[in-house]
Amino acid sequence: MTAEIIDGKQMSADIRAEVAASAKKLKEEQGPTPGLAVVLVGEDPASQVYVRNKENACAEAGFHSFKHELPKNTTQEKLMNLVFELNRSDDVHGILVQLPLPKHLDSAEVLLAIEPEKDVDGFHPVNMGKLVVGQTTLAPCTPAGCIELLKRSGVELEGANAVVVGRSNIVGKPAALLLLAENSTVTIAHSKTRDLATVCRAADVLVAAVGVPKMITGDMVKEGATVIDVGINRTDEGLVGDVDFEAAKEKARAITPVPGGVGPMTIAMLMKNTLKAAQMALPAQDR
Ligand code: GUN
Repeated sequence: MTAEIIDGKQMSADIRAEVAASAKKLKEEQGPTPGLAVVLVGEDPASQVYVRNKENACAEAGFHSFKHELPKNTTQEKLMNLVFELNRSDDVHGILVQLPLPKHLDSAEVLLAIEPEKDVDGFHPVNMGKLVVGQTTLAPCTPAGCIELLKRSGVELEGANAVVVGRSNIVGKPAALLLLAENSTVTIAHSKTRDLATVCRAADVLVAAVGVPKMITGDMVKEGATVIDVGINRTDEGLVGDVDFEAAKEKARAITPVPGGVGPMTIAMLMKNTLKAAQMALPAQDR
């Protein structure tokens, strides 16, 4: 079997167009213009690219975007005060503090300070807790993008064996919880898992989020499985996922490429969360 290649770039464009149409409708109905504040501390080149992409996506969706750049030696107090100010602003519906922060700053304290209703990254413990109890409002963007890719590819999640390799707070754990909410039978595998190959071979849906280039080899993929590769590893060969794509595509029914799979979905889900946050800020009778 040669797999269908899931086109995350196209799906991301579709979602962003849907969000732009909803934002236009919201404005026409006298609702707010969704506003996203992005905070960047320091000059990390990769972070600068991500932030620029977010600004462009906001412009394209008809959102307001507010960029706050702080020098890399910013104090915790300055950063916290900026978050408090953004929490109070009626024009800001979503707040995103670009990670990683410089080492002297306490990112857990910063993430905890963001109003949960404006936490479009879905990283606040309140939003993570809602995910656990099945009351998801703002889900983390990358795992939410994985679910959207699966659904839009017509993959049956109910009752499927889903294996998530990786247990990070940003991807692995929330991906597992979102799959559980879709009634999949979920296994979380990680670096201490015994006989990872056997665990992976049981997966109808295999999500790889470990950050190790080509760790998921062809023999770990069940014939007819759907493979979602969250890895983005910079290597001498260029950008490489966590899955050995060439080998896995001969076994899978459908697979995401790297780049052009999960990557572009994150920003689409960020736009979707920002729209949702703007809708949640409306008085209850107008929602
Ligand atoms: N850095 C890399 N990915 C992300 C993300 O999804 N959110 C934030 N805040 N920072 C990131």
